[in-house]
Amino acid sequence: MKFFVDTANLQEIQEAHDLGVLDGVTTNPSLMAKEGIFGHDNVMAHYKQICEIVDGDISAEVIATDFDGMVREGELLAELHPNIVVKVPMTREGVKAIRHFSERGIKTNCTLVFSAGQAILAAKAGATYVSPFVGRLDDVSTDGLQLIEQIVHIYGNYGYQTQVLAASVRHVMHLVQCAELGADVVTCPLSVITGLLNHPLTDIGLQKFLADHAKGNK
Ligand code: G3P
Repeated sequence: MKFFVDTANLQEIQEAHDLGVLDGVTTNPSLMAKEGIFGHDNVMAHYKQICEIVDGDISAEVIATDFDGMVREGELLAELHPNIVVKVPMTREGVKAIRHFSERGIKTNCTLVFSAGQAILAAKAGATYVSPFVGRLDDVSTDGLQLIEQIVHIYGNYGYQTQVLAASVRHVMHLVQCAELGADVVTCPLSVITGLLNHPLTDIGLQKFLADHAKGNK
């Protein structure tokens, strides 16, 4: 399972990269705004900086909601770097844009997916990745992980090449369960990835090893 970090914060991206287990980055307009990145030139420059840190797929989202606008923006984004994946929302116009990009060899990430039907459409349109939002479904009393299971199953039935990118992954158990269910990718904050490190028995065990070693050196 690939690990993507879900942030536009360069420091976090660098830290995730330095850990040695990072496969890519996802961003969205909210995450860019959180970092104070506004305006076309600043946004493009920021994506370039991310591409310089991480050698893996970097999702960059279009803002336009009409087909022509999405195509225009997506083509500009794709020209920035070969690792850019154009992130397109799951809408009628978005599906058309995904088909357009897929026919031209431009990678896409279909975002804001909340149902299996939407995921089938994304695969049919030729999306590289589909992003079901696990945490946001949980937020409205719907089992987000069940959707991951359903999509993995459906894609397996037909051998769809679209990769299941579990998004809105909020905690370690989300991540572990996505792995159990066979998601191809998870995207999450850095804290979820580093959270995987934690186990009190590891800390206690290490303390004991070091204490025992120190006894021999007295
Ligand atoms: O990748 C989508 C993600 O950014 C949404 O996460 O926690 O805002 O639902 P969250």
